[in-house]
Amino acid sequence: MELPWPLTDGRITVRPAAPADAPAFLGYRRRPECQAYVSRTVNTIEQARTLISDRTAEPDSLLCAVLLDDRVVGDIGGRRYRPESLGPKPTDWDFYLGYTVDPDSWNRGVASAAVSLLVPALHGAGVRRIVAKTFADNVASIRVLARNGFRLEATERAAVLGRDGRWLDDCTLAHLP
Ligand SMILES: CC(C)(COP(=O)(O)OP(=O)(O)OC[C@H]1O[C@@H](n2cnc3c(N)ncnc32)[C@H](O)[C@@H]1OP(=O)(O)O)[C@@H](O)C(=O)NCCC(=O)NCCS
Repeated sequence: MELPWPLTDGRITVRPAAPADAPAFLGYRRRPECQAYVSRTVNTIEQARTLISDRTAEPDSLLCAVLLDDRVVGDIGGRRYRPESLGPKPTDWDFYLGYTVDPDSWNRGVASAAVSLLVPALHGAGVRRIVAKTFADNVASIRVLARNGFRLEATERAAVLGRDGRWLDDCTLAHLP
């Protein structure tokens, strides 16, 4: 997707992922803390490379590296899709948003800054509704979204079986322009 790259606030930078990001992505994405609430896990360098090549090859997908002081400490991205319609063909796009940050950099505002950079850029590029699905247990993720103006729209109770065998409440939050 064409956005005015790079997006930066001077401390955090968001730019499209590149093949050279694979070792950095693998370094944190294989950690159990990063896998608890995500469906597509990355455990090998091949999987990290495939994630980047798949997502950069698909025109409706976006995968970005998140840099703190010029070092890759996370990723953010998602997929745009056409909204549902009862008839007229929508010309707008909606977008599913997701992100992961290296646990060594948690609670330093990295995800919040990355979301605050990407969300207005997506709206500026014609994206209407930005949707994030997260589990009720994922307090940090819900906090990141809430402080960026996402509203909780629904909680599906005991909807998804977690990696630890517990049924998780699945929350939908969304941001409109
Ligand atoms: C969710 C995630 C991206 C947050 O990244 P981060 O860079 O640490 O986020 P930030 O520092 O911007 O903000 C985290 C917020 O959650 C709060 N928080 C963190 N852990 C918390 C907890 N256990 N209870 C309450 N609040 C918590 C922090 O205080 C902070 O809020 P504040 O800015 O109001 O103080 C990170 O935890 C992560 O990568 N998790 C694994 C992958 C994942 O779950 N991705 C989301 C899938 S939907």
